Formats: sequence, C-alpha cells, structure tokens
Amino acid sequence: MSINYQEILDTICDEVQPLLSQGKVASYIPELSRISPLQFGMAVYCLDGRIFTAGDERKKFSTQSVSKLFALALAFKREGNAIWTRVGREPSGNPFNSLSQLEYEHGIPRNPFINAGALVINDILAARFVQADTALLQFIRVLADEPTLDFDRDVALSEQGTAHRNNAIAHLMKDFGNLFNPVATVIDSYCRQCAIAMNCVELAKAASFLANRGSIPWSGECILDASSTKRLNALMLTCGTYDAAGDFAYRVGLPAKSGVGGGIVAVVPGELALSVWSPGLDTNGNSLAGSMALERFTTLTTRSIF
Ligand code: DON
Repeated sequence: MSINYQEILDTICDEVQPLLSQGKVASYIPELSRISPLQFGMAVYCLDGRIFTAGDERKKFSTQSVSKLFALALAFKREGNAIWTRVGREPSGNPFNSLSQLEYEHGIPRNPFINAGALVINDILAARFVQADTALLQFIRVLADEPTLDFDRDVALSEQGTAHRNNAIAHLMKDFGNLFNPVATVIDSYCRQCAIAMNCVELAKAASFLANRGSIPWSGECILDASSTKRLNALMLTCGTYDAAGDFAYRVGLPAKSGVGGGIVAVVPGELALSVWSPGLDTNGNSLAGSMALERFTTLTTRSIF
C-alpha cells in the first residue's frame, strides 16, 4: 500500500510547535545543555524506498541512547543468545541510570537499554572487536547507507568528563564479575557510542532493517534473522523508552528507542521505520514533542502494532 505520509507529517510538525518550549534539554551532559529546544524534525522511511520528512529532518543530533539499539543489534548478531547470561530482558521500572536495582540484582542489568545494560553490551563488543566504538560506527554506517556518519567528539569528551554515575555503575558490575574489560575502556567506548551524530533521515533508514524482518531493504543484506528481529522489536516495545515504556506503548503502540539527545526511532513492522527529534525532554528523559509526534502519527495513520 503506497500511502503518501507527507500531509500527515506536515500536520504533525505544525501541531507540535507549541510543545517545543515545554521540554527541558538534558543538562547533565554539558555539551547537550547548549542545544536549543526549539527544534523539531521527523522522517519516515518506507520499505519501498520512499522518504517523507518534515521540519529539521537534516539537522544532526546526538543519538545518545538510541545508539544502544544498534549496539545491541551488533552484539546479538555476533553472540546470539549468549548475551542473555549477562543482561536481562525485563523493563527496569527505574531511571535509566539507576544504581540501586543493580546492587540487589547482583550486577545483572535488567535490560540492554538502561545504562548498565548498554555498558555490558559494550564490554561484549570490546571482547569481540579491537575497537568496539569504531566497529559500531561502521555497522551503523552500513545500516544507514551513509559512510560519512561520525562521532561528535565534543559531546564524547563532555560526557567522558562527567560520567561519574556511569563509572559507578561500571565499577559495581566489575565487582560483581559482570564486566571483563577495564572500566575506563568500556566507559570511553560507551561515551563515544552515545556521541554518534545522525539526522532523522539517517536514523529512520538505519532502523529500517527492523521493519524488514532483519534485512536492509535496499541491499537485501541480512543483519538479523526474522526471529531475532522479532525479539529486538519486542525489547524496544517493553524497554526502549526507559521506565515510561508502558505509557509509551499505550500512547504510541510501536517498538521504539529514545535518547536524551531528543531522538526517538520507531518501527512499523512490514512497512516503515520513522524517527523524530526534538531536544526538549519530559521528566522520564524522552523527547516531549517527539513522543507526541509519534502518538499523533499512529493516531492519524491508524498504523501501530496493535
Ligand atoms: O549515559 C548517559 O546517561 C547518556 N549518554 C545516555 C542516556 C540516554 O540517552 C538514556 N539512556 N538510556
């Protein structure tokens, strides 16, 4: 079905404008605190290759935790189910950088999308690749069909200099025997991963294999088999938007992954991948206008997984 989404995206872009001033940019990473919240972009990548966009869809932003999706895909592709001995698959119901749950659950993170889980995934990648961060960057370049994608070095340095909580999480897991590489190696690679910069079009394209049973739509390259892809989408639905995942599923009804840079990527299996970006966040750390844009998209198009 060749639906033209342009009118709907234009409508959404107009509708969310009053929300842009209501969110708060992430302030705990100094470089992110300097970004104006008054920006909004959206892109839809259909599996037949059509692209629809609105707003600031070509502006680069910091992918932050959205990158955890691609890191997980790479680790799952390489290691398969072995990763589940070191990280769980349950929503955390806690903030993404919480330490307390990790203590009473003996250093096994609830899921790969909270910071602790992403650090374990980085540790797994560090054992597999000489440079985990560049291996991941290269992987995302292929997924997005964009060889120029890169780290934002200022953001990476800014985060490395203030990553006290992530260091604490990594040390706690090391103490429990769930981190094999040096803490500094894992933290550096994690911060660089979070600092990968993308725009909405690139992000929607990069996630499109998840809408296409695990294969890149334009090349046919198999990234994950259909069963693994189903599982990754399930994890996005249940854990991809932090401890707001239940509310997000209720409002939007799509597997999605968000980041504190204000990006969110979502998947309509069998049809399209879409992304939104607006740096103002809600209290859970999800883009305020971005979440509303996705809610409006599934409402106006009647497309969701439910
Ligand atoms: O580690 C951090 O806190 C940020 N680099 C990423 C946080 C984020 O986007 C939400 N995390 N799940």
